[in-house]
Amino acid sequence: MKKRSFLTAAALAAATLAAGSALAQDNTFKIGLILPMTGQQATTGRQIEAAARLYMAQNGDTVAGKKIQLIVKDDTSLPDTTRRLAQELVVNDKVNVLAGFGITPSALATAPIATQSKTPMVVMAAATSSITQASPYIVRSSFTLPQVSVALADWAPKNGIKKVVTLVSDYGPGIDAEKFFKDRLTFNGGEVTDALRVPLRNPDFAPFLQKVRDNKPDALFVFVPSGAGAAVMKQFLERGLDKAGIRLIATGDVTDDDQLNDMGDGALGVVTSHHYSAAHPSAVNKKFVEAFSKANKGLRPNFMAVGGYDGMRVIYEALKTSKGQGGGDALLAAMKGQLFESPRGKIFIDAQTRDIVQDVYLRKVEKKDGQLYNVEFDVIKDVKDPGKNK
Ligand code: PHB
Repeated sequence: MKKRSFLTAAALAAATLAAGSALAQDNTFKIGLILPMTGQQATTGRQIEAAARLYMAQNGDTVAGKKIQLIVKDDTSLPDTTRRLAQELVVNDKVNVLAGFGITPSALATAPIATQSKTPMVVMAAATSSITQASPYIVRSSFTLPQVSVALADWAPKNGIKKVVTLVSDYGPGIDAEKFFKDRLTFNGGEVTDALRVPLRNPDFAPFLQKVRDNKPDALFVFVPSGAGAAVMKQFLERGLDKAGIRLIATGDVTDDDQLNDMGDGALGVVTSHHYSAAHPSAVNKKFVEAFSKANKGLRPNFMAVGGYDGMRVIYEALKTSKGQGGGDALLAAMKGQLFESPRGKIFIDAQTRDIVQDVYLRKVEKKDGQLYNVEFDVIKDVKDPGKNK
């Protein structure tokens, strides 16, 4: 059974040719959006789907004379499922673009399918540096962990934080965050006194946080994927790490706008670095947050939503430029080099790396109008993924 569900490169190539001729006749442009809609990463799926639908509602569903069809599939964040769904979308549905990808293993599992079928693949969430190198058809609209971690390692030693314990989810993005934070902090004269890794699935943070307490660093640096931040925050406070004088610093994945407002006042003062805050003070963002919230019963968009929204824009603009002609290669070419103002600030799809170049912000959790927000207090402009210079 298992064997039969795997397609050979030849079968995929044949399917692509068939897709080409089918598309010549029909006037739809299909986007296969694969997301975790259930399970541990479900908030990522909910945010990205909502953002994609908002983009379509605001920009219409006809582009270059083609009717846009969004096909959403739930991979439950299991990479084998992501790969099977991607194959079905390419072969049966003959999608023009693959998009979504809530976690790194899902993106990596799909990369060979994008390559073999010459289908552009827009990574809207997953953030391990190496993902864009897994296929020349991958374009990223999210961020990378090295991109956001380095800024915090520059900020910390200037603010009395010299000794740090790192705590990360034990897979691609966590390992990137750990390495790039540590290298930069060490370069800046600081020290990582312990590096802890927790499992991605069903993590129990308690024993790790006890170790941190015993270690007594100036600060704990954390990366966990979107959706897991509230649990870390709760246990950090319950174990009294704040009272023991240990500061919590993190990538913005931890003070995720999807959860932040429910974390309580214990989150106040937490400093993070990231590429998007719902409180980003620009006219474009204000409009985005209002429209998103209105369309989704008051839900606040998080950084995943912005990756989905901008990813849709990259697809729409590429379709306009290529006029729906020339297949996957023309579409991909038109994605490269795009530059526009996103709700997060100005962004750029680097034509060479196909990765995103963007501003990274230092933020502090503060109360505004009775609600908790990541309030930006500093910015590092036009940050490329430092992982590409290895
Ligand atoms: C990833 O798996 O690449 C990932 C997921 C969630 C995040 C960041 C990275 O918040």
